[in-house]
Amino acid sequence: MGYQTLNVDVTDHVAVIRLDRPEALNALSTELLGELAKALKAAQENDKVRCIVLTGSDKAFAAGADIVEMSEKSFADVFMGDIFGAEVGQLMRIRKPIIAAVSGYALGGGCELAMMCDFIIASDTAKFGQPEINLGVIAGLGGTQRLTHAVGKAKSMDMNLTGRFMDAAEAERSGLVSRVVPAKKLMDEAMSAAGKIAEKSMIAVTAVKEAVNASQEVPLSQGLLLERRIFFGLFGTDDQSEGMAAFVDKREAQFRDR
Ligand code: HXC
Repeated sequence: MGYQTLNVDVTDHVAVIRLDRPEALNALSTELLGELAKALKAAQENDKVRCIVLTGSDKAFAAGADIVEMSEKSFADVFMGDIFGAEVGQLMRIRKPIIAAVSGYALGGGCELAMMCDFIIASDTAKFGQPEINLGVIAGLGGTQRLTHAVGKAKSMDMNLTGRFMDAAEAERSGLVSRVVPAKKLMDEAMSAAGKIAEKSMIAVTAVKEAVNASQEVPLSQGLLLERRIFFGLFGTDDQSEGMAAFVDKREAQFRDR
């Protein structure tokens, strides 16, 4: 399928979705987010795909929602139109793991998009921020919520109130990103992580995603119970038998997602 604002490539069980609006630093227009929702749905439905990598350009993962497009909108437009609600809903329904590979600017909706992914690998040039305060608004796709979960109240308040950017080293120190690598190695690192995930049992991978995501929503006691129930449930899979037998036999496991 051809896209105007994205490039999609599937190699070795990994779908790489690259945001491609260089003239606007990959600003998230309605068109781009609509295409992204479609590309993610296609990756979810493609049996060959076992992991997704979402990335941008060297200069920008995405510099936020498209300000030019938003500048004409009224309260009624964004409220009744539920701006980007459907697209984000689609992203959150993706059950396959999504790695954000971030280089350059990840600002506003760009930072929020990266945080919607399962984890972020950043290049040493990455800059994260929620500068919506400079536009007379606040974050609208999770910047006051997911960022606070990730880096804590003090840094989240600081970034949301002042609009300052966080560099890659601070983002790693603060728990926003899982790894920082030199810019030239970003895609190698993301593809290597995605490749490792693609080798696992998809049942266990999907279970990890559900359990870790639940930790962001439910009290600890409920999360721990959910984890134990899922853990017990996995003993009903062939992949559990195979994974443990392979360890005992000192060989590589051959998972079949059964
Ligand atoms: C539309 C954008 C854009 C954006 C950059 N551009 N960000 N267009 N929406 N978010 C465009 C510029 O207008 C310019 O177009 C071109 O991209 C290059 O950008 P420059 O500003 O010339 O580059 P530079 O000087 O390097 O500065 C980079 C930057 C700056 C620091 C990232 O562009 C910037 O501050 N951008 C806005 C960041 C921001 O406020 N994001 C939050 C948006 S609100 P021309 O045509 O002049 O070459 C948001 C809300 C989410 O995200 C919630 C929605 C529900």
